Amino acid sequence: MARPPGMGRKFKGGKPPRPPPDDLIGTSAQKLVTTTQGIWEITKREGSLVRRFTKDGVDEIKQSFPYVWRLFKLVLALNPRRTVLLVIGRLVMSILPSTRLRVQGAFIDLVQDAIDYGKLDRTRLLRLASLHMLIHVLEEAISTLLESSNAVIERRLGEKLDLELMRAHLKLDLVSLADPAVTQKFQDAERVCRSTGNGGFQQIMQVVDVFTSVTGILSQVTTLSGLVSRRLWPLVLISTLRPLLHAAGMLGGGVFGARITDPLYQRMSTVKSFATNPSLRQEIKVFGLSDWLVKEYEAASTALGVVSLRFQREEGMWSNIGNFVEAFTTPALYITTALQSQKFKISLGTLNLLQSTTEQIIRSTSKLLTRSENVVSNWKVVQSFFECCDMAPAVHAPSGGGKDYETAEAADGRKGMKIEARNVRFAYPGQPEVLHDVNFTIQPGEMIAVVGYNGAGKSTIVKLLTRLFDCTSGELLLNGTNIREYHPEDLRKRTAVLFQDFGKFVPMTIRENIAVGNIPAAMYGHQFTIEQAAKSAGAASFVEALPKKYGTNLTKSREGHFQPVSTHDTASGDLSGGEWQKLALARGIFMRASQSDLLILDEPTASLDPKAEFDLFAQLREVRRERSCTTIFISHRFNTVVNADRIMVVEEGRVVEFGSHRELMDGEGVGRYRELYELSAGAFLEQESSREKKRPSTAVSVSTEQE
Ligand SMILES: Nc1ncnc2c1ncn2[C@@H]1O[C@H](COP(=O)(O)OP(=O)(O)OP(=O)(O)O)[C@@H](O)[C@H]1O
Ligand SMILES: [Mg+2]
Repeated sequence: MARPPGMGRKFKGGKPPRPPPDDLIGTSAQKLVTTTQGIWEITKREGSLVRRFTKDGVDEIKQSFPYVWRLFKLVLALNPRRTVLLVIGRLVMSILPSTRLRVQGAFIDLVQDAIDYGKLDRTRLLRLASLHMLIHVLEEAISTLLESSNAVIERRLGEKLDLELMRAHLKLDLVSLADPAVTQKFQDAERVCRSTGNGGFQQIMQVVDVFTSVTGILSQVTTLSGLVSRRLWPLVLISTLRPLLHAAGMLGGGVFGARITDPLYQRMSTVKSFATNPSLRQEIKVFGLSDWLVKEYEAASTALGVVSLRFQREEGMWSNIGNFVEAFTTPALYITTALQSQKFKISLGTLNLLQSTTEQIIRSTSKLLTRSENVVSNWKVVQSFFECCDMAPAVHAPSGGGKDYETAEAADGRKGMKIEARNVRFAYPGQPEVLHDVNFTIQPGEMIAVVGYNGAGKSTIVKLLTRLFDCTSGELLLNGTNIREYHPEDLRKRTAVLFQDFGKFVPMTIRENIAVGNIPAAMYGHQFTIEQAAKSAGAASFVEALPKKYGTNLTKSREGHFQPVSTHDTASGDLSGGEWQKLALARGIFMRASQSDLLILDEPTASLDPKAEFDLFAQLREVRRERSCTTIFISHRFNTVVNADRIMVVEEGRVVEFGSHRELMDGEGVGRYRELYELSAGAFLEQESSREKKRPSTAVSVSTEQE
């Protein structure tokens, strides 16, 4: 695994055992053993099923049962009547097969009597026929009823679990969700919402099935015990021999999971997926990768050699012996019965009953054993599900609901949010520190531009200001109060933000993509409409040119722009990078409709053309004139930066300069801003134009020479 999938090396076949796969759910890792069979990695449980079931099972039951009980209560609360009916129905269904076998046995005896002695007990015949039919009708009716109840409860439960997991996910903050353990737990929990496999409904039904298997077995044993007491035990032994050996095979082990992890095989799959991936199509054409991809596939395939992609299920020695013995058991049973007919005095009906019941018991018992083990190990996902639901966010509101937010006012009368960073340090979860000792003060109503090299930490400061993360040390004060003392929701209402890595809500309409910035304003109508926001962001012109305007459904297009996604909706498609940015801007401006005190724009003009950029700043001035607010915008374009009241220069996680364009150009500071400015296109043009100014004299002299 550690070796890169290099080409041209020989496939060696066997590999040393690997650590147990962690994506196999249902048991703790130390109980799995992994071996390799060809290109397959086979995982088995350690020890026999009986040992695992008795020893480890108890611990697992103790740990997970409270969660399963919680799930059962949830099912019961959703539809109590149907759930109870479902349980009763399954119980009745479990005892019907053995009853049917008894009736069948009695039937055969009756027919045998009629053949042997020419006598027929008509009343008994009628009773048995009615009973047989009744069992059949009952089975049919109950299974139809169970099917419809299953479908109703399963659907409602699926929706309920989906909703609970959605809530759990949405409740958590970015810090918690950045934790791989949390992500893994959510992935496990997701299985409970599915309708198959480990789905919540299946889990509960599996528990019910364990009980119904027990009742089924009990009814079969009752039948058999009657036969044993009639000294028929040698026959019972012969007929149970094969199923017993088969069960022994099952108890011995069995494959738990299998997967292909061979790097060469994976390389082949990767190369094949590249060839058919629409998002790589243009690169494949332009870089001329077709031949290379084919060669890579062939090289990996040659190196892998001829291996079977099918893996052999090992059923175990006992099972194989069982299959062999099967050829002898039926004749042995008949021969013994025939030879000892006077001793056993067994009728054909009883012989049939004996044979069928023993088969049924052994089948049910082995099913019960594996089912019980699977049930208990599958409970882990139920546990994960409820653990996810119970998880508390790391970024949370202070106890008591938090301090009330009040707009601040600067000495010059401008209003907005006052922001102070004091010795702020920050590291993304599990990562090295990216902000080291950040200090700055922004006055209410100020317009601040933030500049700095890529990776300096500018967007990270935005993430702290919007409280997506909390700083690891130091203090962030808003209007003199620590950011942690406000309710995060309250604070978010006061902040409008356009993220650099803004989200695209697809498939959704243009209207919805703007409305998500301020759902209450969109729902309850506000003075500031979606159309106005689009206009301010410069998005209105291209939106209104679309056939469905704001109702255009935005879908991730595979081929290009405005590809119809279906024949019914020809106005669906994707947008260009700049158009998306304008929509995101409109969303940010629409957030302002809630009268926020802080407007943050992280590289708002990165994809905008010069006219759109000019218009944006004109609109920004307009928005700020209507109602004063603190504005922070991050930009690499110095023609926009010069518009700011002050400029903050961030370098390697520190604020190295903070002042007006003039101050920083005049050398107040360490000269970093000036350096960046001079490197920028604006300064380049300035230099060019100053060169141009000097050039005419040369031109004149040349022309003079020509004259
Ligand atoms: N979610 C994250 N998890 C881990 N590290 C991150 C994450 N986001 C950013 N970083 C790292 O933090 C550092 C600062 O990133 P940040 O996005 O704040 O830079 P920036 O100044 O906005 O850069 P740019 O000009 O490219 O937008 C970088 O080294 C980056 O790799
Ligand atoms: Mg950034």
